[in-house]
Parts: sequence; C-alpha cells; structure tokens
Amino acid sequence: MAIAAKPPLGWNSWNTFSHAIDENLIKEAADAMVESGLKDAGYEYIVIDDCWSLRQRDENGRLAPDPEKFPGGMKALADYIHSKGLKFGMYSCVGTRTCADYPGSFGHEFIDAETFAEWGVDYLKYDYCNKPKHVDGPTLYRRMAMALRTCGRDILFAACNWGHDNTLDWIRACGAQTYRSGSDITDSWQSIKDIAVSQMPLEHYAAPYCFNDLDMLVVGMYGKSHNSTIAVNGGCTTEEYKTHFSLWAMMNSPLMIGCDIRNMTDETKAILMNRDILAINQEAECRTPYFSKEWDDVPETVIRMFKPLQNGDYALGFFNMYDDTCSGSAQFVDMGLPETGYGLQLFDLWEQKDLGVFTDIYRVTLPAHGCQMLRAKIVKL
Ligand code: GLA
Repeated sequence: MAIAAKPPLGWNSWNTFSHAIDENLIKEAADAMVESGLKDAGYEYIVIDDCWSLRQRDENGRLAPDPEKFPGGMKALADYIHSKGLKFGMYSCVGTRTCADYPGSFGHEFIDAETFAEWGVDYLKYDYCNKPKHVDGPTLYRRMAMALRTCGRDILFAACNWGHDNTLDWIRACGAQTYRSGSDITDSWQSIKDIAVSQMPLEHYAAPYCFNDLDMLVVGMYGKSHNSTIAVNGGCTTEEYKTHFSLWAMMNSPLMIGCDIRNMTDETKAILMNRDILAINQEAECRTPYFSKEWDDVPETVIRMFKPLQNGDYALGFFNMYDDTCSGSAQFVDMGLPETGYGLQLFDLWEQKDLGVFTDIYRVTLPAHGCQMLRAKIVKL
C-alpha cells in the first residue's frame, strides 16, 4: 500500500520527554490521543523517539527494549496502541550509535526492519548521528528504505538527516516518505522562525509520498521539557504557537505533536484541533504554496503564501516574522485573479469569521509573530 499520500499526523516523545520515556507514558499518550479528541481530528501515530533500547544488542544481534522502561516488550505495546485504532512509531539511526548513544542500525538494517515488522511497527524515524565515514549517507538511507519496503509490513520511513549531504537531491529517489531538511526545533520563537524561513525556498521539492518534515511541533510545550536544550526560557506564547502551527500546515509538513498531550490547555487543544487549518495541511493535492513576491514598496512586510486547494478554493496565509506590528497586502492579481470581474470571498480560519468579498487587494496588520489564515472562494462580481 502506498503510504503518506498526505503528511502524517501524530505525537512523538522527544520534545517533552527526551530520555524519560517508559511503557506507561506511551500508553497514556495513546489514551490521551483518543480521549482528547486528537484521534478524531486525524492524528494517528504514537512515536517513541531515541532512548528506548538497551545500550547493547542482544546475543542474537537484535535490538532489545530496555526491560526497566518497557517490561511488557514492544509487541504488547504495539498491540495496545493498535487496539486504540492508532499506529505505532519507533526510532533508529543510520550510524553505529544513535544520537543519544544507543545502538544504531548500521550493518543491521535488514534484521532491524524484520524486528520492527515483528513488533508491529508502522513508522520508523531514522536519524543521522555516528555515520561511519567510509559509507555515504544516501546509500544508508537507500538500504534501510529497501529493508523496510521488503519486510512484509507497511512502515512509513521518516528520514532525519537535517538537510545534510544535499538531502533534496536523493531523498525521494531513496524511498523515504518524509525527510527532515533543517535542524532540530527548540521551544522558542527564534527556532520556529529560523526553520520556517530556511525551508520556504526548498518547499517545491516536497510532495505527496515524500514530504518535508519541518520537525516536531512545540505547540503547547510552554517551556516544559525533560531536555534543557529544547526548553528555552518558558517557551512561546499562544500567538506564536498559532503561527508555528499555521506555517507547518501551509507548508505541508508532517504534524507530529511534541507537547505532553495528557495535560493540554484549552488554547493548545484549540490550536492542534482546528479542523480548518488541519484540512489545509491534509489537502487532497498537497500543493506547494506560492510565496508571493514583494509588491509593497517597503523592505519589511508580512510573508504571504497562497495555496490552491482541490475544490477550487485557495488557502491564504499571512505571517509576521518580525518583532513589531507589521502590515502587508496580498494583490489578487498575483494569485492569478483577472484584474476585473472577480473577487475573493474570505473566511478567517482562526477567528471562524466570514470577512466578506474583497476585490484587487487584501491588507493585513499583524501583531509581532502573529498570523492570519484565510480560505478564499473565487466569486464572479
Ligand atoms: C536528533 C534528531 C532529534 C531527536 C534526537 C534524539 O537530534 O534530530 O529529532 O530524534 O536526535 O537523540
């Protein structure tokens, strides 16, 4: 079966829990995904990141879960997650050791893929630390992709090599369904901005069956993490999390939640479960947005993105990446609208408000780090 026609949606343990993971936490995360409504909103993967295994392989050369953290083993955990109607993700690495110094899959790719398939794994995040120098990265991603594609189970291959070694040139051809082409996110506005702005020029490579993963969401973390490099000074504001989520949605990124979904505020739930924004991300065609060129005669303006949707509507995103209030405008002719005779009926997806019909131009003024997300219908005047 073809996997990842749309960006995968789920939760990953790393951002909040880092090394502090165990079986109960993962089960509670699965429970929370169902009870909070996240599953109904479309989220399906529960992914265990690094630090789940013993420090060494077992006597048969297989990866083995740490029995203190996962006493019931991975098969039982997978069964639990599947019983909730969810999918199960795990983590390994191209190199001899993972980034947190657990055994990596180098030289064991096929046996590891077989093990993951036996356990009932549906998703594998594959990192890039400790790669032996004598083998090139693309070869190792191709190898694990082949192992997964022939292991007898549908396993989504989530490559994570941070854009090193010209990822975009070879990642789709290797068979991965998602790829990271930027650095690790932290719970800070600066990090959200750096990732979004650095990836905008690269978005035309991303498409169904091979999406650019802008990294796991920090929405709702508010500075809480077991990993001090991820938690930065209290995290972000709710406004910043909204902008972060909107950017990731518009840019067709996988949306892997990184906060503690057992304890979400109402604001966090409202962001992660905004059906209209999720629908922009889960669009049938997942078209790359058009990043509008500069029309206003000002050096700094809000970033504007237009994305054609399958039913003839357009998604419009306006993003203020600056530290002050900022204005900008969208010229409809830039989207393709004829100069006369047509207009756009605009609906605000965060405010859930009809804004009426506009002709020629739409002007916005946004607070620092704020955004506006609209759905536009083309109307004949
Ligand atoms: C790398 C990845 C992160 C996370 C850690 C785990 O830094 O990019 O997303 O998986 O490794 O050690």
